This record gives sequence, C-alpha cells and structure tokens, in this order.
Amino acid sequence: MEGDHLSPLALDPETMRRLGYRTVDMLVERLNAPPGPVVRAAAPAELRERLRIPPPEAPGDFDEILAALERDVLPFVARLNHPGYLAFIPGEGTWPGALGDLIASALNLDTCWWLGSSGPSALELAVLEWFRDWVGYPDGAAGVLVSGGSAANLTALACAREAQIGPMDQHAVVYMSDQSHSSLARAARALGFGPDQVRIIPTDEVARLRPEALRSAIAADHAAGRRPLIVIANAGSTAAGAIDPFAALSEICREHGIWLHVDGAYGGFACLSERGSAALEG
Ligand SMILES: Cc1ncc(COP(=O)(O)O)c(C=O)c1O
Repeated sequence: MEGDHLSPLALDPETMRRLGYRTVDMLVERLNAPPGPVVRAAAPAELRERLRIPPPEAPGDFDEILAALERDVLPFVARLNHPGYLAFIPGEGTWPGALGDLIASALNLDTCWWLGSSGPSALELAVLEWFRDWVGYPDGAAGVLVSGGSAANLTALACAREAQIGPMDQHAVVYMSDQSHSSLARAARALGFGPDQVRIIPTDEVARLRPEALRSAIAADHAAGRRPLIVIANAGSTAAGAIDPFAALSEICREHGIWLHVDGAYGGFACLSERGSAALEG
C-alpha cells in the first residue's frame, strides 16, 4: 500500500507541509518584526515557572507548542539581527544558511561515513577546497568542517598532538596568549594537558602575543626538560580583534619544530578582502 515504506511515526505529506509552512511563517514574522529591545532576559525563577511542563504522554497540538515557544521561550533572547546589537561577536545568521540547516536536519544527513553520504561528503570536500584556496594553503592541504570554533580548536590541537607525540605526555607544553578564546584552554584540558602544561603568554599594548615572551617561555621549558609542542595564535582575538605577529611566531616555531595553530574563528575569513588578507600576512 502507498506509504507502507514509511515509519509509523512519519506524518502525512499534507501535515508535513502545513507544519513546515506554519514554522516558516513564524520565523519570517519574527525576523522582520520591529526591533523592540536588543536583549530581553528573565529571572531563572520566572522561566522555570513558565516552563514547568510535564513530559507529554500523548501527541500535542503543533500550533499550541509553537505558540508556547513564542510566548515562553523565544522572547527571552538577544536579537542578533537588531541594529543596536553591537556588544558581542555573534552575528545575524542568513536565511539561506538556516534553510541549509533545515535540509541537513530533515534528511538527517550522516556525513561520518563515505558509503552513507558520499554526495554530501563530496560537497564538504569541494567547500574545503574553496577554503584552502582563499586562505592560501598549498595543494594537498586537508581539513574537515566542524560545528564551530570550539570544535575546530579541539580538533586542531588533537591533530597537532597526535601527529607529534601520539598519546599524552606530561612533558608536552602548549602556548597561547592571554587573549586566546576560552575554548583553547578547555580543549587543551580535554586533551590531557594539565594546568602546568599550558603557558599563557602576555600580549602587547594592542593585545598581540609578544614573540620575545614566547621565546623566553620556550627556552625555559627546554631547559626544564619539557617538550614545547604547540603555539596558538589569534587571527582576530575575541575581545579586541587583535591579529598576532604570524611571521615572527612561525619563525620561532620553525626553529624549535613546534606546530603553530592559528585560531581564525573570528577573523580568519577576513582573508577574503584585500585589506584583511594584508592584515593576516604571514
Ligand atoms: C577567536 C575565537 N575562537 C573560538 C571561538 C569559539 O567559537 P564557537 O562559539 O563557534 O565554538 C570564538 C567565539 O567567539 C572566538 O571568537
């Protein structure tokens, strides 16, 4: 019979369309609503009260769920698309980007194995080639798309450690500036670098890592029998947008056989403009 191949939890096509259109209408309305406050927050107690909902025992009404979401959840956010939203880094998403997320979620694309998703995986490789060319990496440079900056930093540090020493070694040391994003110290900790294996290097008056301070820290670690392993630089630090002196840092890293990781989560794609590309030189 028609539809026999579907899960018993699947909705009929008409219902799928109706719920989808309803959700899209809600989103388009919210995104185009008059600005209102930039940020609206409520106290935890009030939100707990609003959201004290027992787990449902039976199917609910989608319109009611959406209405509750609009009433009790979505108003309590910062509006990233507000013209007055200037205080923090996160920016407005784009509608095509959101629809891309919808497609990936609706089809539940499982890109962790080639056989199961060779099409999407080939698309990932094509996009990575764009990135490689934009950043100016050589042919053969490889990568992987991850969920964001924190996951990228963790992945990069894991690769650097595995490639150089394999399993964790208590002598290994990682260096980052006092401006580095918190995800880097967390990634180092998650990979097994203890607090005494992470050196926080001071920055200059415009928040750039000081190469001479890095050099001294590496020398001190060598003298103490440690293994300097990874230097982390910022291509746009979170707080100040500072770009570390890559040429000087890569010279030090080459001298000592240390891997240099550049956190470009915030400013890396400035390489797409001439000015940004010049600022990221090195
Ligand atoms: C320089 C830098 N690195 C890493 C991150 C973490 O990125 P995400 O929030 O995508 O995990 C941020 C976030 O602001 C950042 O500014």
